[in-house]
Amino acid sequence: MIVTLDGTAGVGKSSVARAIAKALEITYIDTGAMFRGVALAAQRRHVDWRDADAMAALLPKIQLTFDRVDGANHLFLNGEDVESLIRSPEMSQGASAVGVLPAVRTFLLGLQRGMAQSGSVVLEGRDTGTVVFPNADHKFYLEASAEVRAKRRWSQLQEKGQPSPSVDELKAQIEARDKQDTERDIAPLCCAEDAVRVDTSHRTLDEVIDHILQTIRERSARAT
Ligand code: DC
Repeated sequence: MIVTLDGTAGVGKSSVARAIAKALEITYIDTGAMFRGVALAAQRRHVDWRDADAMAALLPKIQLTFDRVDGANHLFLNGEDVESLIRSPEMSQGASAVGVLPAVRTFLLGLQRGMAQSGSVVLEGRDTGTVVFPNADHKFYLEASAEVRAKRRWSQLQEKGQPSPSVDELKAQIEARDKQDTERDIAPLCCAEDAVRVDTSHRTLDEVIDHILQTIRERSARAT
């Protein structure tokens, strides 16, 4: 079974995907982490994220894998656990920047399809239901206004005691990433025609998870 979850930055896809993977006992593939890993690899080798030729030359030197660490999914870059390094605001921008490059998308597409060959998976990202697995069994598209997403992000940072820009600044960052992700030429973020749209603005995380699991169960039961 292949489940895809796409949507804008900060809409809660990762938390939802992790929970769905756990409930259904299937593999979780965080495609955004892979774009972040490519951005980190480039930064380490002083390759400009927008330099298409240099980025294409770098790709054969990049090996990306996922492994479990203390019960959580971590990204490994050439064998090194880089999970904490790829979560910075800088790598969010870097991932979005490298995501416009055709060579990067082709490289990651091959890896993502390969990872799903071994069994059932839930993939989360921007194009998993449109490009990576257009024939997925269950597709979902998560949405919430930029205002709601910025406020959630701000609250998360406060809870963690981490320094936080203002809600307005976070909203501007989110909108900039949305713009880059939806307006790029290749595999732009969009809702697949056959995806179920889920507005998370007025739902708790648990409500979103329950709604998605319920939808998968109902549709699977109807299909048998
Ligand atoms: O989901 P995320 O915030 O970790 O993704 C980071 C960036 O990676 C996102 O802004 C755009 C890019 N990305 C992409 O282009 N396609 C995907 N399937 C996933 C992420």
